[in-house]
Amino acid sequence: MLLPITQYGDPILRVPCAPVEHVDLELHTLGVNMLETMYAAEGIGLAAPQVGLSIRMVVIDIPEEEEEQPGMITVNGEQKPMRSIMPLVFINPRLEPYGDQQLCTEGCLSVRGIRSQVKRPERVRARLAKLDGSILEIDCGGLLARCLQHECDHLEGRLFTDRVSSAAKVTLAKRLKNLLHR
Ligand code: NI
Repeated sequence: MLLPITQYGDPILRVPCAPVEHVDLELHTLGVNMLETMYAAEGIGLAAPQVGLSIRMVVIDIPEEEEEQPGMITVNGEQKPMRSIMPLVFINPRLEPYGDQQLCTEGCLSVRGIRSQVKRPERVRARLAKLDGSILEIDCGGLLARCLQHECDHLEGRLFTDRVSSAAKVTLAKRLKNLLHR
């Protein structure tokens, strides 16, 4: 089932989300619906507040062709193709970004029509709880590291537009204001 995607200006996008305490059938269904919604919108990641739920849950699916490198990442201590863990549906993530800051263009399904350069650490160590109760410990770079940081920002009520340079913020401000009055 397709869910409506929360748009810029909706206060739920600005609230830190609550941890998920119980995994039940409803949560599994939510995961399926979030993936379906994300695919339909041609996104690679979607966080629960983007479908109106203030809980710490995220879905990600990065297609192979989007990944710039051969796409090997470390999963629970083993080298694996990034694709082998896709699609990802996880709750209560813990993220530890590290490494050099890297400038990359980002967009967001909740901030339509705006793309901007955002600086973030290029690598991430992450601990993700899957709905089946298993834990994924991931060490990665590339688009997955970028996407994990962007999506987990949503769980803190943060948007990528908060992280652009102060010069870019000036130009963005007007376009963001227009989004509110559309
Ligand atoms: Ni987003």
